[in-house]
Amino acid sequence: MTAFSVRLTGTKYGCGGGGCGACTVMISTYEPTSKKIRHYSANACLLPICSLYGAAVTTVEGVGSTKTRIHPVQERLAKCHGSQCGFCSPGMVMSIYTLLRNNPEPTSEQMIAALAGNLCRCTGYRPILDACKTFCKVRSNDDKNTRLCPLVWRTVGKKNNFFSHKISTRLFSTDEFQPLDPTQELIFPPELMRMAENQPKRTLVFCGERMTWISPVSLDELLDLKAAHPKAPLVVGNTSVGPEMKFRGVFHPIVIAPARILDLNVVTHMDDGLTLGAACSLSLVKDILTNAISEFPEEKTKVFCAVLQQLRTLGGEQIRNVASLGGNIISRKSTSDLNPVLAASNCVLNLASKGRKRQIPLSDIFADGVGNNTITSEEILVSVHIPHSRKGEYVSAFRQAPRRENALPITNAGMRVLFEDGTDIIKDLSIFYGGAISTTICAKQTCWTLIGRHWNEQMLDEACRLLLQEIALPGSASGEKVDYKKTLIVSFFYRFFLEVLQSLKKMVNYNNSLLFQDPCHYPGVPMEYRSVLQDFQTKMPQSIQIYQDIDPSQSPQDPVGRPIMHQSGIMHATGEAVYVDDLPSVDGELFLAVVTSSRAHAKIVSIDTSEALQGPGVFDIITAHDGITLAITHHDKVLTVICVGQIVCAVVADSDVHAKQAAAKVKIEYEVLEPVILTIEEAIKHNSFFEPKRKLEQGNVDQAFETVDNIIEGEIHIGGQEHFYMETQSVLAVPKGEDKEMDVYVSTQHPAIIQEMVAASLGVPANRIMCHVKRVGGAFGGKLLKTGLLASVAAVAANKTSRAVRLILSRGDDMLITGGRHPFIGKYKVGFMNDGRIRAVDTKYYINAGCTPDESILVAEVSLLKMDNAYKIPNLRCWACACKTNLPSNAAFRGFGFPQSALVTETWITGVADKTGLSPEKIREINMYKENAQTHFKQKLDPQNLIRCWNECMEKSAYYSRKTAVIEFNKQNYWKKKGIAIVPMKFPFGLGTRYLSQAAALVHIYTDGSVLLTHGGIEMGQGIHTKMIQVASRELNIPMSRIHFCETSTRTVPNACASVGSAGTDVNGMAVKDACQTLLKRLQPIINKNPKGTWNDWIKEAFEQSVSLSATGYFRGYDENMDWEKGEGQPFTYFLYGAACSEVEINCLTGDHKNLRTDIVMDIGCSINPAVDIGQIEGAFVQGIGLYTMEELKYSPEGVLCTRGPDQYKIPAVCDIPEQFSVSLLSSSQNPYAIYASKGIGEAGLFLGCSVFFALRDAVTSVRNERGLKNTFSLNSPLTAEQIRASCADDFTEMVIGIGERCLSVFG
Ligand SMILES: Cc1cc2nc3c(=O)[nH]c(=O)nc-3n(C[C@H](O)[C@H](O)[C@H](O)COP(=O)(O)OP(=O)(O)OC[C@H]3O[C@@H](n4cnc5c(N)ncnc54)[C@H](O)[C@@H]3O)c2cc1C
Ligand code: FES
Ligand code: FES
Repeated sequence: MTAFSVRLTGTKYGCGGGGCGACTVMISTYEPTSKKIRHYSANACLLPICSLYGAAVTTVEGVGSTKTRIHPVQERLAKCHGSQCGFCSPGMVMSIYTLLRNNPEPTSEQMIAALAGNLCRCTGYRPILDACKTFCKVRSNDDKNTRLCPLVWRTVGKKNNFFSHKISTRLFSTDEFQPLDPTQELIFPPELMRMAENQPKRTLVFCGERMTWISPVSLDELLDLKAAHPKAPLVVGNTSVGPEMKFRGVFHPIVIAPARILDLNVVTHMDDGLTLGAACSLSLVKDILTNAISEFPEEKTKVFCAVLQQLRTLGGEQIRNVASLGGNIISRKSTSDLNPVLAASNCVLNLASKGRKRQIPLSDIFADGVGNNTITSEEILVSVHIPHSRKGEYVSAFRQAPRRENALPITNAGMRVLFEDGTDIIKDLSIFYGGAISTTICAKQTCWTLIGRHWNEQMLDEACRLLLQEIALPGSASGEKVDYKKTLIVSFFYRFFLEVLQSLKKMVNYNNSLLFQDPCHYPGVPMEYRSVLQDFQTKMPQSIQIYQDIDPSQSPQDPVGRPIMHQSGIMHATGEAVYVDDLPSVDGELFLAVVTSSRAHAKIVSIDTSEALQGPGVFDIITAHDGITLAITHHDKVLTVICVGQIVCAVVADSDVHAKQAAAKVKIEYEVLEPVILTIEEAIKHNSFFEPKRKLEQGNVDQAFETVDNIIEGEIHIGGQEHFYMETQSVLAVPKGEDKEMDVYVSTQHPAIIQEMVAASLGVPANRIMCHVKRVGGAFGGKLLKTGLLASVAAVAANKTSRAVRLILSRGDDMLITGGRHPFIGKYKVGFMNDGRIRAVDTKYYINAGCTPDESILVAEVSLLKMDNAYKIPNLRCWACACKTNLPSNAAFRGFGFPQSALVTETWITGVADKTGLSPEKIREINMYKENAQTHFKQKLDPQNLIRCWNECMEKSAYYSRKTAVIEFNKQNYWKKKGIAIVPMKFPFGLGTRYLSQAAALVHIYTDGSVLLTHGGIEMGQGIHTKMIQVASRELNIPMSRIHFCETSTRTVPNACASVGSAGTDVNGMAVKDACQTLLKRLQPIINKNPKGTWNDWIKEAFEQSVSLSATGYFRGYDENMDWEKGEGQPFTYFLYGAACSEVEINCLTGDHKNLRTDIVMDIGCSINPAVDIGQIEGAFVQGIGLYTMEELKYSPEGVLCTRGPDQYKIPAVCDIPEQFSVSLLSSSQNPYAIYASKGIGEAGLFLGCSVFFALRDAVTSVRNERGLKNTFSLNSPLTAEQIRASCADDFTEMVIGIGERCLSVFG
């Protein structure tokens, strides 16, 4: 809809499946009878265009633009620093804007709910929420400043001794914001209103190339259509049919759209409940049930409450706004959150087919155990009857998902019990589960058996055993999580048991009406078990950011040290920022789709492209014969593939759709080769490694082990991580037609390598290839060599066809092809004294490199160099080897091995704590670097600021008093536990060798005084261009507004190093400074002559005196080196320090957790831009939470990545950030090595996410101690709900693994 026809490119495409929210738009419809306009947000990627007939669509361009007027939402998102790479920003704007259209003063709960369906990989959400808060209604009992606008509109007057600078907590000023004025909004188009009012409703038929869309207006017509086309799906929200057609190749030549039929939209209040039309959206159902709950007595609304419980977290708002009740029921997915609760509650379906109407209980459709029952293909669902609950009836719904919001459930349940009047004797019981197997299932036998039983401990025990017998989960069908799902099955029932028990107790208390029992002795639920009856809720986080204010004597025009908005912030928020996919179509442009290997290790016997070449619009197919390294070529000319996802060939066609259709028709025959090595363990077994292996050693490790009091040994597995940059890999190659020149527009962190690889593929000198990068929609290390390969394929195709060729990877292909962070296994042996002093460490890191070396040896090296983290270990030996496996090659990723090796370190630190009985923070303190010292490779370091960060973090987080509170909480709560952990960090900065940190800049001054700046750094969200403009502004002493940055290009700055390793600002800043100083030196005589003149006067004069107004700047790089033979060197230039304290709460029954609070203190020298730097710390921290606690990659036994989109792979969303989140920059910190005493900050914060991992570990430890589980336990990363649940061993987990012989005790 957007890119080529109407050129509205603001709406972004991040996943195509409704899972990321980047494509959010606002739909407005007019209802002529009520004369009401409805506005709702929706994911454009799933909206069939035909469904929009008569509707108005507002994209981000319609909200506001720099050409007309920017909207307050756009302005505040940008000014509150809520955009980094900007790719998610239009979607964020649209979600907030739609909410404000419906409710100009929303509550913070509504705001949080509105953003649940929008993902951001850069910011960590805090600044986005800060922008949101400025629109929220302030409740009377809220502190206006700290609760809804926590950025604290004040400057803390505290002075520090060293610089006597003030500390500031203000990153933006609300004074600048335009007010929200609802009268200024776009009106609903009057012509659509007239159309809706005047045009009689008639059947609409839209015929496309391959499909016909029929939208009838009456039920009879619909039934006729369904009789004529029984196989045609009814499409309402398209959230089930759409993904099937897009991702699973299902094709429907005819689609029937029943949304306009009144009967399917009617809501009827009946005496015994509510009847809701099947086409009602889930949002509407949510609203109706919410109203009903406030209208009816509590006794009647138990079903409504239970359904509502599921609706709150089902999908995001964009999904709920379009997905229909009927669609959710009829698609009968096992992951339906509604079917179990609706079935358990005796809901009834009103069905119709031509000449026939009937009613069936919803549960009937699952009666055959495979969800295939009863409804014929000619039948349609007209409405659903949801009954009132009755006296003595209790209904509940439960779900556990990989993420609390916007994630399909792992297992869910709906449960209902009816008691004999005035007793606790079960009259009727109904239990349904979802997610467990391929459909919703009923625990029929269990329910029948329990009828007539009292609601007591014996019943619970029997129920759990019966449930486990009845709900058989075939290991292979579920593939995994079987034990977890079984545990949830019984844990949910236990929770239901407690809920009902609590209600029965209340009943006894209120009217003494239970006939069976002496009310005084009726147990109820003891206090310490009650907290588990409350689910975790997402609340608007409170946050504070603290940094050192600039020196009061600094010139007001000098922007360095100030929280300046991202240079492209407004462009991001208005959707005007251009990414590769937004570039206008080039005349005759073609599209590329890649064909990838489906085998992990195989010989390619044949590639049959004949059918693909016949496809419509197909131009050509690029193979290895076109001179590009795709599948590996052996010397005997045999093609082999060495991982699933390896590009075998690529189809060039006139459209993206045609290219993809043809790519699906390429037939490849394989001959599978042995061995297929997927895991680190298999690589070790086959001795499959990339050389060299690396080792570092200091002291005498073996001797030290002989003198220590204690030794522990263990290992930890750390999973990989997908970059999940919001903009997928993108390239546009445009042949210029002369001298073999080619422009390559590409989303990369390293244009020079792209230039080199493309030139090599085309066999032309590098001077013919111009790479251009305006901005990158997130990269995190993932847009380096892989991008080079993709760009080369596109360039070869462009060269071959002499046409421009565009390649934009789909999210699924991107995840399949590109690899990510290296999985690790860390094995350790640690020797220590009883007082906690660690004397000897011997560790080995095995790194899953994937199928090619890529940068894996470097990752291995960095992991060794940084593994000491903050600790001085006198005798230390560490090894690292990169395992060669048949997975896609893993690549650079923020932190580059440090987040993994330092997690291993922190794991053995906690292991030592466990063994000595001392607290982890004591072990950390005892072993921390304390005075000038040398690392294990003999580099000197001064840890003063490490200690300061640690102490400040201790103080700011009130660690010890909160730890006491946590212990107290844990004493009072059995099924919920809290945990707290504080972790220090030393993050060495450097790239190991001088040439990798060289940088250049080019600055032109034009005769009107404006300045065009460029340098070799890439803008991928980290604000580098903003900072470079700040540097140039200070150096040239002109306002930032006079300086412009256009693009990074190999044409203006040659041979630029990659923007990696947190080094961008450091090295390019030096180059920009150098260029500006050169210019200023040339201007100085003119300025001296006319000191009162203006900048423009001097420039004019310089031009007239023929003074060159263009200069390059250069930075040679840092003098860094490392001798791996000797195991010593100076690979780093300086060190960043930090500490983070996190507190969490876990639900021991489900493994779910909530991040309660995080306090971070970071030493980043003198920040050039505190808003940008704090944004980097928070964004990296939240990415770290993802790495260590949720992001889980899954492969099939054949090596196929199963997690290929936001549906299966969960990155942190708004619900995952700490409820209280504070970041402080260490004051009075200087760094003599980098520009303006700053420090490179891009990566360091990620590791601090492990404070959440260790807080979770603390909570689990507390559970295990309470339960007397004394044996040591190990936790791997990511520490998912599944692992937490398994570690909180109890009667339920024992029952599941078959060792629970003793009777369940009701209360633990
Ligand atoms: C990103 C995302 C997240 C999601 N998260 C969740 C979640 O957390 N929990 C959950 O339960 N679900 C979730 N879903 C699934 C979603 O709730 C369902 O896809 C949705 O409810 C289906 O409704 P629809 O109107 O979009 O169906 P459509 O895709 O339009 O149709 C679905 C099917 O139902 C049939 N159908 C529709 N209406 C009728 C009718 N009246 N009579 C007969 N047949 C009919 C159609 O023939 C079709 O086969 C998610 C989906 C997405 C895309
Ligand atoms: S692109 Fe539509 S939700 Fe991701
Ligand atoms: S700013 Fe949100 S994804 Fe980059």
